Formats: sequence, C-alpha cells, structure tokens
Amino acid sequence: MENNILIVDSDISLKKILVKSLSGAKNIIRAVSTISEAWVEISKNYYDLILTDIELPDGDGLELVEKIRKKKLSTKIIVISAKHNLLTTVKASELNVYEYISKPIDLNDLIIVVSRCLQKDKSNTHQLIADDEKLPMIGNSQVMQSVYRTIAKLMKTDLTVLITGESGTGKELVAKAIHDFSRRADDDFVVLNMAAIPRDLIESELFGYEKGAFTGAEKKTIGYFEKAEKGTLFLDEIGDMPFEVQARLLRVLQMGEYSRVGGREVIKSDVRIISATNKNLKECVESGTFREDLYYRLNVVKINVPSLRDRKSDIILLSNFFLKKFSNGVKQIDDDCIKLLEKYRWPGNVRELENFFKKISVLYSDNVITKKIIEEEINDIDEVSYEQQQSENSISDSMIVHLSNFFDALNPDDDNSTLNLYEKLLTEFEKPLINKALNFFNGNQIKTAAMLGINRNTLRKKIKDLKITLKK
Ligand SMILES: Nc1ncnc2c1ncn2[C@@H]1O[C@H](COP(=O)(O)OP(=O)(O)OP(=O)(O)O)[C@@H](O)[C@H]1O
Ligand SMILES: [Mg+2]
Repeated sequence: MENNILIVDSDISLKKILVKSLSGAKNIIRAVSTISEAWVEISKNYYDLILTDIELPDGDGLELVEKIRKKKLSTKIIVISAKHNLLTTVKASELNVYEYISKPIDLNDLIIVVSRCLQKDKSNTHQLIADDEKLPMIGNSQVMQSVYRTIAKLMKTDLTVLITGESGTGKELVAKAIHDFSRRADDDFVVLNMAAIPRDLIESELFGYEKGAFTGAEKKTIGYFEKAEKGTLFLDEIGDMPFEVQARLLRVLQMGEYSRVGGREVIKSDVRIISATNKNLKECVESGTFREDLYYRLNVVKINVPSLRDRKSDIILLSNFFLKKFSNGVKQIDDDCIKLLEKYRWPGNVRELENFFKKISVLYSDNVITKKIIEEEINDIDEVSYEQQQSENSISDSMIVHLSNFFDALNPDDDNSTLNLYEKLLTEFEKPLINKALNFFNGNQIKTAAMLGINRNTLRKKIKDLKITLKK
C-alpha cells in the first residue's frame, strides 16, 4: 500500500529536497507552501503523513495541526522548524505530533523518522533495512552522524568544502550528498580526479582551451569549470594538483572568473567547489607542494570522513546493505560473522567491505555466510592481528596525537615555549612510567629498577628529580 505524504513548507529549495529524498515506490508526495493550500489538500485527500514547517506565510503551522486534530483525522504529523523553543515543543507534543525536527534538517535522520512513522509494525527490523536502500549513505555511528549534521548545515550554503579521509571511506559519496541536497541539485555534479589525468593536461581539462592553444588543440574545447557551471565541481585528489594550476584555481575562487588556455575571453564562473584528498594537505603546504593561500580557500568547511575501523558499529548495517544489494536479499550473515568482520582492520575501508561482499556473492552459492568463508577470503583476518597491532602501535600513536596537539599550540617565535623541549618531553614520559612501575611492585625499588633496566642509584635520583612521591 502506498503512503500519501503532504509537505507544507514555503522554502522552495528545502521542499524540493524533501520531495526528492522521500520519493519512492511506496510514497506519493504532494508539496504546498501555505496553510490554506494545505487545508484544501487535506479536505480533498487523505494523508498518512504531513510534514509541516511552523513558520508559514499565512500563519503558524501548529494552527494547521490543531485544525487537523479537531477534525479527528488519524494523520501522523511531523513538525519542522528553525525556531523551536520549549513552548512550541510542548504544544506540538500536546497535539500528538509524531516527531519534532529542527532545522537545519539532518536528512538521514528525517528519512529514518519518516519510515519509522509510516511503519505499521515497529518491531519489524527488516523493514528498516529495506528502507536503507533509499539512504544516500549507510551508517549511524556517532562519528557519521556528525558528518550528516555538517552536510545538513551546508544545505543552504555555497561554501567551499574540503573532504579528508582515507581511501574508500566515502569521500565522493559525501561530496555527492552535499550537491544533491543543495540548491544546485538540478545542475551537474562534475568530478575531476587530479591523480587520473596527466599533469600537463590538468590545466586545459579544468579551464578548456582555444583552437591552436597548443599542438593537438584542433578545436575549441570547454573545460570542467564550464561543464559544472551552476552546479558543483568535485576536485578529487586535490593534493596532486600541479603547483602552477593551483594559482589559476585560486584566481577563479577569488575573482569568480577565468579564461580558457590560449584564450583572452574572460568567462564568469558560478561553480561550487568541493575538493577531497587522502593526503595531509597541511603537510603538503609545509613541504611547499601546495599553496597555503589556496589551502585556506578550499578549507572553508572541512569534513573528515572517519575510517571504517573507527566506526565498527556501522559494519553490521553496511554488511546487510551490501549483502542485500549483491545477493538480492537471499544470503544471510549472522552475529558471529559480523563480530569477525569487526575485528579486521579494513585498510581499504567501506570500498573493501563492499568488494568483499561483491566477491563472496559471486564465488559462493551458500545462502549463509560462514566464518570459514570469511577466513578464506580475507587473508589476514587473523582474529587478534588488529587488536595486537593496536596495542603495539598505541604508545607511538598516542605520542603522535599528543605531539601534534603540543606543536599546534607552540609559537615558533616564542623562545620560552620551545626551550628545553627534549628534556620537558622526556620528563612527561619518564614520570608516569616510573610511577606505574613502582606501583606495580608496591614501591619496591629493586624490582622496579630491574624491570626498567636501570641502575638503582639512577632510579633513586630520578625519583628525587621528578618529585615522585613514594607510597609507604
Ligand atoms: N556510508 C556508505 N554507505 C554506503 N556505501 C558507501 C558508504 N561509504 C562508501 N560507500 C561505497 O564505498 C565505495 C567507496 O566510496 P567513495 O568512492 O566515496 O570513497 P572515497 O573516499 O572517495 O575513496 P578514494 O579515496 O579511494 O577515492 C563506493 O562504492 C561507495 O558507494
Ligand atoms: Mg574518491
């Protein structure tokens, strides 16, 4: 059975986005802008769900809700507002509003709320998984939710975005989502990967060229900037952009205009730039391969897409999603197998997980994925390898985090903050180490010195110098 959904919102771009994200085989959607238009619709048709803004041109959306409730319609209602306060929230819940959503909208949340609201049987989890197909991105870990919130906040803006993250984490998917949920959605999303084209062609690919601009330029050709006009240009692997081209890109970002290679005509440009990299662009700036001014221009909003190993709780949703996608819902995976998948390090992130399910869907006819299959297909899945590596790496990893924070806070021109750094850092390391070891042996200095491999006198001196208090 289809669901009739009515959207009441005067914001045209938001309305478009809502219609687009909620449309599907099961939903029939109408959208209007005012209370009076909504009332006409409600009098004509029955709606299973009404999504309404509070601030409407001809009144308060809650008045509409009140009217509907007086008519004793069983319609479910979701209220959206940018200006929610305690009173409106209370009033909405008195009117038996199903959910109260604040603007800017987190679309993934909204889609989940809507599907839950329309679901007849709430305990039916298969329904939820099936609904995932409509989601632009799978995963509801805390770290991904924060990515979704940023995407939602960007909906009404044209801000330049830099997306970072390891290979296969979903950077391009995030870029596409930003485009799809922006007012540029009806125009093109154009992708140019710096690493995929020869360096000396990047400039002419980006800006186009005039006939005769260089040998082989037989006719005037438009570039990616022109192709993306009014839409979004996604510059992938931006760290690989040649230094000379960076200056030209900077100019377009500053002036909003450029000219084709070998041409003089000035072309105005209205393109939103989203770039991505799996390099540390700040380091590229430091090593002189990336312009600092361009870095700041691109990095107006930064989104870091977390590695899969840092959001293991998403593995179950992603696995079910990919399994359904590649095996038409025939194959099943159980909790033990998911646990095994969660132990692996996933260096290739979501792409590796996706490829894994693609492969086993083809190679194995069994309908149940077993631990044996997983162990056969992922060579180094050895259960402890990842955990072990974690603890082996942990000291230097946490040192790196610590040192990065430390260096970020330093001022190179301030002699005091950088004075005796080696000594200071060694102290930071030595004191907790000696403390721990002493505690471990209940204050026994002979055993502690032996464990640390230092002379007893040295230990005694260090305890004194580092002002370590000994427990009686
Ligand atoms: N959250 C997600 N939900 C569903 N599919 C995802 C998700 N994240 C990534 N994928 C899928 O994983 C694959 C890799 O994603 P994508 O190309 O966006 O990654 P990337 O970070 O751009 O990788 P690279 O750095 O290698 O270019 C794609 O097929 C994408 O559809
Ligand atoms: Mg990519």
